[in-house]
Amino acid sequence: MSKHDDEHSSPSTLQPMVIIFGFILALATVVSLIMANPAGEDTAPVVAKVAENIKPVAAVEVAAASTAHVEKSGEEVVKAVCSMCHATGLMNAPKIGDKAQWGPRIAQGYETLVQHAEAGIRTMPARGGNPDLTDAEIAGAVANMANQAGANFDPAKLVKK
Ligand code: HEC
Repeated sequence: MSKHDDEHSSPSTLQPMVIIFGFILALATVVSLIMANPAGEDTAPVVAKVAENIKPVAAVEVAAASTAHVEKSGEEVVKAVCSMCHATGLMNAPKIGDKAQWGPRIAQGYETLVQHAEAGIRTMPARGGNPDLTDAEIAGAVANMANQAGANFDPAKLVKK
């Protein structure tokens, strides 16, 4: 080989050398991992350990989800909140199922009744005194009570003012 050829071959052999060295390094890492695990255990314990480590995060997410607002039906809201006054007519609240008391109120229209229930009217407290109730829950509760006194209100068709 001439001197000229050697000069050209050294930079071109450097690249394969680096690749081979990198390969040996990777191989050494794999070998050392196998040596550290002579019983040849499978990766299940490792997976379990990872699962253990992420558990607190998962648990926190579940806790957050369980405190999120779960939409109640109109009937549930009436039973839990509105019936306190509307079942017995407390403070002259129109009684559930009393057509004479509900008739003139129903005549105002669904939208108006929902608005009054949300904002409150005279001695009727806003949202029945429970600010956590959503608009949909109020609309459902109004329909539930009014429909028991002859109305035919459908929360799905409510047009908000
Ligand atoms: C603290 C007692 C009380 C609670 C709780 C209560 N109401 Fe009332 N509500 C009243 C009273 C009193 C009136 C009559 C107010 C008036 O017309 O002077 C009334 C009237 C209404 C009316 C008729 C409004 C109108 O324009 O004529 C609607 C609708 C209504 N309530 C819905 C609800 C809903 C829905 C709930 C539950 C989320 C609820 N109320 C909870 C006391 C209550």
